Amino acid sequence: MGKDIKGLVIITGTTSGVGLNTLKPLLRFGWQIIAVNRSNKRGKKAAEEILTENEMQNIHFVEIDLSDLEDVRKGSNKILKEFNKPINSIICNAAVYKPRLKRPERSPQGFENSMAVNHFGHFLLINLLLENLLSSKRKIVLNGKLLIFKPRITILGTVTANYSELGGRIPIPAPANLGNLSGFKNGFLSPISMANGKRFKPGKAYKDSKLCNMITVQELSKRYSKEKIIINSLYPGCVADTNLFRDTPWLFRLLFPIFQKFITKGYVSQRVAGERVAQIATYKEYAKPAVHWSWGNRQRAGRKAFSQKLSKRIVDPEISKQAFDLTKKLIGLD
Ligand SMILES: NC(=O)c1ccc[n+]([C@@H]2O[C@H](COP(=O)([O-])OP(=O)(O)OC[C@H]3O[C@@H](n4cnc5c(N)ncnc54)[C@H](OP(=O)(O)O)[C@@H]3O)[C@@H](O)[C@H]2O)c1
Repeated sequence: MGKDIKGLVIITGTTSGVGLNTLKPLLRFGWQIIAVNRSNKRGKKAAEEILTENEMQNIHFVEIDLSDLEDVRKGSNKILKEFNKPINSIICNAAVYKPRLKRPERSPQGFENSMAVNHFGHFLLINLLLENLLSSKRKIVLNGKLLIFKPRITILGTVTANYSELGGRIPIPAPANLGNLSGFKNGFLSPISMANGKRFKPGKAYKDSKLCNMITVQELSKRYSKEKIIINSLYPGCVADTNLFRDTPWLFRLLFPIFQKFITKGYVSQRVAGERVAQIATYKEYAKPAVHWSWGNRQRAGRKAFSQKLSKRIVDPEISKQAFDLTKKLIGLD
């Protein structure tokens, strides 16, 4: 068995936070990585700060701005042509959260930007790489060991997008809810900025985009048999000190990690979150379809990941089918 069948994993958003901290465990498990970032320069710099020269040999960088569907197409082509290798696992991690915007930011195609980056960009990336992923060799070599690996897609979800959990029912600015999807149905271009077609609420726009991420997992799992591919999501815990919160008020950034560490006990370090993502995306024990993996909202030492109950807003067959099909239409895939 040649060296060229080393397992290959793609991960988005590795300049900081959870994504950056997922690199080291993936490399330790023996994976080759394609790190997708909107700046290769920043992606490399961040990786070099935490990885050894040897580890850097197994990581390649591809520049894609996920807000721009054209860029996603170009980058996916590059991945397919230049690497010309079967992809075994895709981790959709990148995200943007801008809760203080007064007006929506727009992607190059004119969509509300957090939906564009978090959902549309990843949705397109997955679909463009899916054929390769589905045909990826089942036998790969990790750290010298030959093993069977079923293709895998892992998407970062969150508690605030899951109405079944307390954190998903926080009314400020509003829980995630796609309503009747009238924003998507009506083209999702200005002046529309929310999936439900209602007034722009930036914090809700983020939650809605993560709800779409979690719906994508459920719907893709229905459309592609678990014999061929495993698709799941996870909530790694509250990683309260990442750059995700860079657009929140400075006092919030100061107090939020303290609140999560000592009051809710939901705080998870970036290192632990990265380890969790790497395991969910690659370990055999997590190869169960359509599971939303969680370690709960109160972190306890030694706790194992479990399948978190999902709200009707995520699993409702009609909403998830519609959200999936409308997304395809909006991004020009059907
Ligand atoms: N932090 C938490 O408590 C928490 C909880 C639940 C789920 N999550 C999820 O975990 C994931 C990682 O978040 P994090 O907390 O680690 O945040 P983070 O440190 O801000 O990382 C986000 C990553 O996404 C990248 N990104 C943003 N916009 C992009 C674009 N247009 N194109 C390509 N990449 C882009 C960022 O790159 P740039 O440097 O270029 O901006 C960065 O590498 C997200 O999906 C988030 O929803 C986080």
